[in-house]
Amino acid sequence: MSTISEAEVAARVESLLRKMSLEEKVGQLTQIAGASFMPGPAPEDIIRKGGAGSVLWLNDSKQFNVLQKIAVEESPSKIPLLFALDVIHGYRTIFPVPLAMASSWDPEVPERAQSVAAKEARAAGLHWTFGPMLDIARDARWGRIVEGAGEDPCLGAAMAAAQVRGFQGPYLGAPEHVVACAKHFAGYGFADGGRDYDPVYLPEAQLRNVVFPAFQAAVKAGVGTFMSAYMDLNNVPASGNRWLLHDVLRNEWGFKGFVVSDAMAVGNLIIEGFARDGRDAACRALIAGLNMDMASGTYPQHLAGLVEDGTLKLSDIENAVRPILAIKIRMGLFEQPYIDEAKLEQVVATPEHRQEARLAAQRSMVLLRNEGGLLPLAKSLKKLAVIGPLADSMEATEGSWMVFGHTPAAVTILEGIRSKLPGTNVSYAPGPEIRRDIPSFFEDIMPTEKKPLETPEEAEAAFQTAIATARQADLVVMVLGETADMAGEAASRASLDLPGRQEELLEAVVALGKPVVLVLLNGRPLSIGWAAEHIPAILEAWEPGSEGGNAVADILFGDANPGGKLPVTFPRKASHAPLYYARDLSHLPEDSFQYRSRYWDGPTTPLYPFGFGLSYSTFSITNLKVSSPQIEVGDSLNVTADVTNGGAQVGDEVVQLYIHQRAGSDSRPKRELKGFERITLNPGETKTVTFHLGPAELSYWSTAAGKWVQEAEAFDVWVGADSQATLHAEFTVVR
Ligand code: BGC
Repeated sequence: MSTISEAEVAARVESLLRKMSLEEKVGQLTQIAGASFMPGPAPEDIIRKGGAGSVLWLNDSKQFNVLQKIAVEESPSKIPLLFALDVIHGYRTIFPVPLAMASSWDPEVPERAQSVAAKEARAAGLHWTFGPMLDIARDARWGRIVEGAGEDPCLGAAMAAAQVRGFQGPYLGAPEHVVACAKHFAGYGFADGGRDYDPVYLPEAQLRNVVFPAFQAAVKAGVGTFMSAYMDLNNVPASGNRWLLHDVLRNEWGFKGFVVSDAMAVGNLIIEGFARDGRDAACRALIAGLNMDMASGTYPQHLAGLVEDGTLKLSDIENAVRPILAIKIRMGLFEQPYIDEAKLEQVVATPEHRQEARLAAQRSMVLLRNEGGLLPLAKSLKKLAVIGPLADSMEATEGSWMVFGHTPAAVTILEGIRSKLPGTNVSYAPGPEIRRDIPSFFEDIMPTEKKPLETPEEAEAAFQTAIATARQADLVVMVLGETADMAGEAASRASLDLPGRQEELLEAVVALGKPVVLVLLNGRPLSIGWAAEHIPAILEAWEPGSEGGNAVADILFGDANPGGKLPVTFPRKASHAPLYYARDLSHLPEDSFQYRSRYWDGPTTPLYPFGFGLSYSTFSITNLKVSSPQIEVGDSLNVTADVTNGGAQVGDEVVQLYIHQRAGSDSRPKRELKGFERITLNPGETKTVTFHLGPAELSYWSTAAGKWVQEAEAFDVWVGADSQATLHAEFTVVR
């Protein structure tokens, strides 16, 4: 555990506070941009006056030392800076995007990944990452679905805790680790229509039963910081929402760290039609419980004045400063403010880290279809064509949310396949390029060199070349999906179709009559209805990171057996969003003919359900047992099932447990995931999986009761390989 006691931290905080001026205290509540795209005074000048507690949007080890020296040698109270950046799925070694890591259904995957990310980031001089992103998202149009763990609170909570452990290590301040930040609190994933930043209207029951569990799991895992969300939540913007930031987070959950706003969010309280002006915004955010203003400049401009005229008390400011100083003390920044710049290159992107990334990518991929056992492919293939605009794209392989200033260094899918098959003729053609219709605003902030737009004639020529290349091959691997900037922040879509001419290309290649394998690189579920019927083998590789190409090749050629499962429902069409498995029942029985009355233009069932994924092995799950048919409120029971690998090779199955409470003070979702375990089985091997159901799993926040309840009711329980599992048992809770 931490070498430094709570009492010692508290004493050191108080002694610092005693010597700080009001301006310096406000400075600690101020995060400034180290980037050149931000207007305003130079960071050096602000820091010298004690006007900043933290710097973001800077990724320059040398400059970290320069700025830190100014803070600890020249500023009045010599308090070190916290350097912060978005290290979302890797610093130099890029891991699969978080949605992909959630597809592993193995919390060890994100835990190990984030611990590598932390080690690399810390060596570079960063202390604090703006992750994990814990927003539950049920609308695939929302671009930021890629940053989270998908649609489910139980899976989300497990991934949340794992990521906090990975980033922070065994305790806050552990060497080679960074402070984590649970974001975006709260409800951001439910933006109206999936449009980024749009308001969110969520009943308290949804917040507490669906949105909060991942955040509370992060608190329990000891997360150091929280980030308030941008959007308006039930008419009170999250960054000025005292119920969220104070009543729930601190009073109910006992969070002791600090809250940073999302970028500019304090100032934006005015734009949101909430705060009258900057003064009002600063005052209301602080009172709401928001400690640090990320880059809006509203706190430094107004807080001191608000204290001087008596609107705020000095103690309001000091209470906000305390947890920030405490984290700096715990991180050992007063003892070791600098980093050894020369060491960085020895720590980052080592072969060990790349190997971790490869394993994580293998475990994150989801096999969606494998008709006739087309996969794994034989390495003896003579002529293979790799086709598609993403097949040789390092950016698409590493995915969205790259660390500021990162240069992609991924093994692409084409390279991975080529190095797996040195003796095979592997030809390649990208086909027509794909692009966003409306460019990302990040292109204005961080301009990257882009090729000029392809003309329709060039696109047609590329299309024909791709067909001609495919025609020469014995088998075609199509690599389709989305470019990195098509998912992520400000990257929502109205359609979930394959962008550009990809679908047309896919259909034209299939028309050649060759066996086709589809590898998807994308940051959200896509509506691939045609492919789901016509392409015999589909591998959802997501955005698999630096080693993505090798991991895809490992799976395609049988050196790894896929075992990932979808953490989100794949809808047939974008217009079906939000589509998720854990919905409440309607007034009609699900199997009745009237139930067809939902839409008349096609089924609303998922294309692929939550929890779904295939393997090269075949598993059976049998012998479901409930340890007791009846328990009392407050008691627990065990649910067991036997899992057998009937295939010819070692493989993984993710065994999932779902429950349904049949009646109660509120109606409950038709199914809710309450436990899961990814297990590895040898051919012919059987293991018994045991799940625990106790008060935590059987309680919920009831709208009718206005509180958490555990009710004496009958329950259904299913155990299986996805959210449509049919193996069923029941039990009753009595009082
Ligand atoms: C994003 C956050 C991110 C922050 C700092 C914001 O635009 O919403 O997720 O941490 O920028 O880069």
